[in-house]
Amino acid sequence: MSGRGAKKVAVVGGDGIGPEVVESALAVLRAAGAEIEPVFVEIGLVRWKRTGIAMSEEDLAALEECDCILFGAITTPPDPNYRSVLLRIRRELDLYANIRPFQSEKLDFIIVRENTEGLYSGREEMDDEQAQTVRVITRRCSERIAEKACDLAAGRRKLTIVHKANVLKSDRLFLKSCQEVAARRAVPCEEMLVDAAAYNLVTNPGRFDVLVTTNLFGDILSDEAAGVIGSLGLCASANIGTDHALFEPIHGSAPDIAGKGIANPAGAIRSAAMMMRWLGEPEMAGRIEGAVQKALASGAKTPDLGGSFGTAQVTHAVVGYLKEI
Ligand code: NAI
Ligand code: MG
Repeated sequence: MSGRGAKKVAVVGGDGIGPEVVESALAVLRAAGAEIEPVFVEIGLVRWKRTGIAMSEEDLAALEECDCILFGAITTPPDPNYRSVLLRIRRELDLYANIRPFQSEKLDFIIVRENTEGLYSGREEMDDEQAQTVRVITRRCSERIAEKACDLAAGRRKLTIVHKANVLKSDRLFLKSCQEVAARRAVPCEEMLVDAAAYNLVTNPGRFDVLVTTNLFGDILSDEAAGVIGSLGLCASANIGTDHALFEPIHGSAPDIAGKGIANPAGAIRSAAMMMRWLGEPEMAGRIEGAVQKALASGAKTPDLGGSFGTAQVTHAVVGYLKEI
């Protein structure tokens, strides 16, 4: 697969179903003719059990050295002092925009989540009686996530800024910063309290186009959105910075179904499509996304969607439609 102009892609299968769905994504990329050179990096629980660390400085350097990262999922090690590997990668590579498209036959909206601050600031302390976490919102990070959301909203209908500014001062700054960017970019925008957004996602998801929100709200609303779409296994994401990016399905390592060959690979395959778009191959990305859609519509569904296909059979169906398109 490697050749002149091949992009170096760090591939982290991870744990549980991570390696299973990443294998599917790589098979689809090969069938699509993607010019990538995979660099396999072992990170996660299996690594931690073997060596006592989940990710080394060298691993981080290897990730940084590649053009981008394709990530499966990792199981959180049972260690009270464990520092989240994904949070560390997001922070070190400054992957500030978490972009999560939600697509089905009826729905098509995107959640854009600020990925570096908010309640995930890491500024927290705890003793036996009290614990506190500082919710950090800055104008700089609010503006840059709003810019990214406006890029995605341009040409679509509207941007919805999701917040809790009626209670939180930090969200007043977030809301104001986003509104200013949207006004300058002439993107139609509305604002919505996060509780109302949670309700509307279930009762009327078709009203949304692009939502932009802070870190924790985006984390929670995107799992809710996955439920509305039908399964966590369907959904993809991109973590994008200025010159690095990491692509991963939004689900975790799903230990309950690992090793059974029944994990839904659609989220990982769609993440690979997002990766090809970011690498400058929008036509190939569109072909892969179309093939996934067709495979699902034809009934190639894993048990999480009520089907009886295995991971390999769904992958095979996607590859088949890829040849047709
Ligand atoms: P999970 O997303 O792994 O699983 C939640 C439920 O969804 C399970 O019933 C699982 O079987 C199902 N599911 C998830 N992906 C699926 C797929 N592709 N096909 C079919 N069914 C699927 O979340 P959970 O159980 O809370 O976490 C398991 C482990 O994963 C934990 O150690 C957690 O910390 C880690 N995790 C890692 C993430 C990452 O690496 N990005 C994200 C979320 C959780
Ligand atoms: Mg989550």
